[in-house]
Amino acid sequence: MDNVSELKRRIEKREYRIAVIGLGYVGLPLALAFAEEGFPVSGLDKDLKKVKVLNEGKSYVDDIPSLEVEHALKKEFTATTRESEALAGADAVFVCVPTPLTQNREPDLSFVIAAGKSVARYLKLGELVVLVSTTYPGTTEEILLPLLQKGGRKVGMHFYLAFSPERVDPGNKAYGIRNTPKVVGGVTPACTELTAYLLSTIVERVVPVSSPRVAEMTKLLENTYRVVNISLVNELAQLSRRMKVNIWEVIEAASTKPYGFTPFYPGPGMGGHCIPIDPFYLSWKARAYDFNLRFVELAGEINDSMPYFVVDLVAEALNKEGKPLKGSRILVLGVSYKQDISDLRESPALKIIPLLKEREAQVKYCDPLVPSLEIEDQTMSSLSLSEKPWKNADCVLLLTAHRAFPYPEIARESKLIVDTRNAFRGLEGNIWRL
Ligand SMILES: NC(=O)c1ccc[n+]([C@@H]2O[C@H](COP(=O)([O-])OP(=O)(O)OC[C@H]3O[C@@H](n4cnc5c(N)ncnc54)[C@H](O)[C@@H]3O)[C@@H](O)[C@H]2O)c1
Repeated sequence: MDNVSELKRRIEKREYRIAVIGLGYVGLPLALAFAEEGFPVSGLDKDLKKVKVLNEGKSYVDDIPSLEVEHALKKEFTATTRESEALAGADAVFVCVPTPLTQNREPDLSFVIAAGKSVARYLKLGELVVLVSTTYPGTTEEILLPLLQKGGRKVGMHFYLAFSPERVDPGNKAYGIRNTPKVVGGVTPACTELTAYLLSTIVERVVPVSSPRVAEMTKLLENTYRVVNISLVNELAQLSRRMKVNIWEVIEAASTKPYGFTPFYPGPGMGGHCIPIDPFYLSWKARAYDFNLRFVELAGEINDSMPYFVVDLVAEALNKEGKPLKGSRILVLGVSYKQDISDLRESPALKIIPLLKEREAQVKYCDPLVPSLEIEDQTMSSLSLSEKPWKNADCVLLLTAHRAFPYPEIARESKLIVDTRNAFRGLEGNIWRL
């Protein structure tokens, strides 16, 4: 029996130990899915707080109920901060660590490199390493492979290496880890075959591609497609405002076209971990090929302008009421980056609130999912919905359309509303829409 067939047999019998490095939004659901399938799974995270919470059977990821963690602990899942505990003896390691940008908006691969070095220290014969973190085409082969090949180990023979991106969409109830197809690109055909076989135990459809680069680029195409289309509609929203055309009505009408049109919606700026960051991994790498990825740069420019546009809109709306921004009481409704989740990463609210404060507005916020917020070293606390804080505001600024907000009541009881999400559609009131 060849190596891959023997490894597949062990996967089949669940005699195959899985380690996941990085137990965040991506790593935790992956680890739990393998545990649920009956694999022994060890999750490694350097954040002791997260590890403690998990080992107490609790979850810190919105989409994962604590019950799922509790259930996994009763099976063969453990979380640890100790490298040796998770990595020594692992048959497969999934690397799900952050890939942020540096201050100069360049890829920061320090987490991937640190994780790669840890894996290399414990790498054993026949081990599979899968990079999941989003990154530019070439990372798996240019950065991870050399770390793992040290000491003369050969990929596809002594160990296996692949890239398989994550497509998790926080808050999406229809598509989760199981029914979202997973793309896999191995360094060698054996690497792809083994990774695809393992992933098909937890995912309904695996899509093998010819190389890690294709898989890396696939993920970036998906995110670049979104970023470019969102920026297009954001630019059209800015124009529509000037032309006194309701962009929301336009999108709704265009969406009736049965083919060739996918609706994207404007907003106060881009948030989350993927869309505002990942395309810049691609434009950075493009420069090494004397290639200027203009779409991405332009999209970034337009999307970065949205918070400023929103602040100007608030000023204009207040002006119509005879009030200056300075001294006006602004209530921001919703501060997380997306509806019905608590994630604050890259949230436009984190830009808009300081801009409003800079112009000396009195800013408070209400977000039932975000009890407190750090802005420029100051902690702000959410006002409670039951206090009906909109009643005391000169302007209500809707940034995130959580379902918990009582829109008809807010529309009725507010003096002025600036709605950046069309959350007040169909309602009467003094409402300014983006
Ligand atoms: N969040 C999403 O919606 C999403 C979707 C698709 C892809 N991704 C990509 O997946 C990757 C992970 O994102 P995330 O949202 O899960 O990040 P996250 O910040 O939620 O989690 C990453 C975890 O890795 C841990 N970590 C970092 N370095 C470590 C190390 N050397 N050893 C052990 N633990 C370490 C951190 O403590 C953290 O808990 C990123 O590349 C991201 O771009 C994220």
